[in-house]
Amino acid sequence: MGTENIYLITVWIILANICAAFSTTSEPTIFGNNNSTKWLEDYTDIVTKFSLRTAEVPDDDLCYIVPGQQLTIPECEFNPETQTFVVIHGWTVTGLFESWVPKLVTALYEREPKANVIVVDWLTRAQQHYSTSAGYTKLVGKDVAKFVNWLQKTLDYPWEKIHLLGYSLGAHVAGIAGFLTDHKVNRITGLDPAGPTFEYADAHSTLSPDDALFVDVLHTNTRGSPDRSIGIQRPVGHVDIYPNGGTFQPGCDLQNTMKMIALTGIHNMDQIVKCSHERSIHLFIDSLVNGQDHQSMAYRCSSKEAFMKGMCLNCRKNRCNKVGYNVVAVRLPRSTKMFLKTREMMPFKLFHFQVKIHFFSSEKLSYTEQPMKISLYGTHDEKTDIPYIMPQLNSNSTVSFLLTTEVDIGELLMVKLRWEKDAYFSWSDWWGNSNFHIRKIRIKAGETQSKGIFSAKDGEFAYLVRGKDDAVFVKSKEDNLSRKEKTMHRLKMHGSHFTQSTE
Ligand SMILES: *[C@@H]1O[C@H](CO)[C@@H](O)[C@H](O)[C@H]1NC(C)=O
Ligand SMILES: *[C@@H]1O[C@H](CO)[C@@H](O)[C@H](O)[C@H]1NC(C)=O
Ligand SMILES: *[C@@H]1O[C@H](CO)[C@@H](O)[C@H](O)[C@H]1NC(C)=O
Ligand SMILES: *[C@@H]1O[C@H](CO)[C@@H](O)[C@H](O)[C@H]1NC(C)=O
Repeated sequence: MGTENIYLITVWIILANICAAFSTTSEPTIFGNNNSTKWLEDYTDIVTKFSLRTAEVPDDDLCYIVPGQQLTIPECEFNPETQTFVVIHGWTVTGLFESWVPKLVTALYEREPKANVIVVDWLTRAQQHYSTSAGYTKLVGKDVAKFVNWLQKTLDYPWEKIHLLGYSLGAHVAGIAGFLTDHKVNRITGLDPAGPTFEYADAHSTLSPDDALFVDVLHTNTRGSPDRSIGIQRPVGHVDIYPNGGTFQPGCDLQNTMKMIALTGIHNMDQIVKCSHERSIHLFIDSLVNGQDHQSMAYRCSSKEAFMKGMCLNCRKNRCNKVGYNVVAVRLPRSTKMFLKTREMMPFKLFHFQVKIHFFSSEKLSYTEQPMKISLYGTHDEKTDIPYIMPQLNSNSTVSFLLTTEVDIGELLMVKLRWEKDAYFSWSDWWGNSNFHIRKIRIKAGETQSKGIFSAKDGEFAYLVRGKDDAVFVKSKEDNLSRKEKTMHRLKMHGSHFTQSTE
């Protein structure tokens, strides 16, 4: 089949471009140490175009607002009473707007029908060799700063109503623009800011927390060593969210992309190769259109590994936040990362649980990579046979891991645990039953913040035997003791969650 070759060639071209970025030396500096803002009012050298798109025609540029030409503001029917989104694209192979642009425009209007959605067009500069386009982010950032500054001055438009959204190289354009305007814009959203040439660059050349009152960032394609990663790996905002660890996204593996290529044809190749990178945009779109019913939550955690053990599902003191548009503007200490797991398609939301189990056994037993099936039964729904490979299973030891469900099961009532047979013959099966006993399972739900203890349904212990029946646990009576405590906790959580911190 030819498609695989074409895929590999496309990957190769992209990688070649990215790698070439490292051969360039420093860009000529355009930020002098001067304190004059006069240059901000020189509109003669602006190359970038600013198109006010409409909800009716989200995919075409029908009206450009031109800095310095005041009449273009009413001509394009800019609404000075409402908020403005400025959408900034990234590097492009084709020199055309990618298909996500009208999707994001539509989603922004769906959520904020009266808003102004302006699409920045720097396609000619974005179509160069990657390193050349990366260098252009400074000039484009200057253009955007001039535009925003002019619009604000001309209309006496409130800075709080300006929200810049940049994807890939566009995220750094937004950062540079925010840094250069003579007042901070309200918010910048960085959608998988580009990594190559920016990972080790200084704050003035990249998106950084100083570029707006609030900077939120989604990192979705940060695979490989830092200097090779398509998305920037280090945190660059006030809130930096790493969905699925930030490395790559579910549904974006080669098998899936090959299937997509077969289904959608070769013209979509470019987007398919960038599946994980572009996922940042679709997660943001998801938060605009599904935020009401399916708002994804992210949790602050010291590492992806700790998150995968379920250790970070805590919402106290702004440790959790909403993903995307509805994020609560808390300015976390720098270099804090937040994590979540997502589905492979929209709506991306998953419910997170920490499961903690202590395994007793009289004999000394030790296993690795054991296949388990866990079933959760709640007041609204249930999710049965969730697979989990337990990395370590030892006598008299506790394990903690993260489990997710697509469905909202409500308050948990019952838990079942089954130990699957290995695929191959095992000596321990022959010698006798591999057998652990479990007194209780502790489960913490991230989305509801409720904690529960689940005790063996029959007797003091439930028995977990490889290849045998489920061990069954039900909501424990012990749990009642902490009910009041839980309510207090939830109130506190709620309070802190909806009060915006100013620090
Ligand atoms: C001052 O800085 C701006 C950009 O920061 C630059 O465009 C301008 O040329 C500088 N002016 C002088 C006189 O150095
Ligand atoms: C610019 O800097 C110079 C010297 O650092 C200072 O004398 C001048 O007052 C500054 N101008 C403004 C407008 O801040
Ligand atoms: C595990 O702990 C129990 C009691 O807590 C003890 O009876 C048993 O011998 C221990 N098992 C091992 C393998 O140490
Ligand atoms: C625990 O609470 C449930 C429901 O509120 C109640 O039915 C049950 O009797 C309580 N158990 C104890 C031991 O208090």
